[in-house]
Amino acid sequence: MALISWNDNFSVNNALIDSQHKKLVTLVNELHDSMKAGKGKDALAKTFYELINYTKEHFETEERMMQKVNFSGYATHKKEHDTLTKEVLDLKEKFDAGKTMLSIEVLNFLKNWLTVHILDTDKQYADFI
Ligand SMILES: [Fe+2]
Ligand SMILES: [Fe+2]
Repeated sequence: MALISWNDNFSVNNALIDSQHKKLVTLVNELHDSMKAGKGKDALAKTFYELINYTKEHFETEERMMQKVNFSGYATHKKEHDTLTKEVLDLKEKFDAGKTMLSIEVLNFLKNWLTVHILDTDKQYADFI
């Protein structure tokens, strides 16, 4: 079973952002599946890096959209993106150094990291874009 199941609750009523969120969900699910299948570190790293890179691209898209409409919550939202980015880069550093494995705890962290942000913070701009 997928770690995260997409449902309409996740929608921010914007096709581009929804498609990016879906891709992020897919990447976390893929990482989870690879981990469960006992894939090696290189295979896990590939998906994990893709998740990190795509997150960067996604945050930039959202930030551009919010700036375009002068969204009042921009600064707070941007700060949360920066914190989330730092958290995942810290995790990457530990992973690369062999100090952490992609365990179910780490996958649950990524699940919450992504879903809480979409369901709470991202939803706040939904009416403005
Ligand atoms: Fe988002
Ligand atoms: Fe966001």
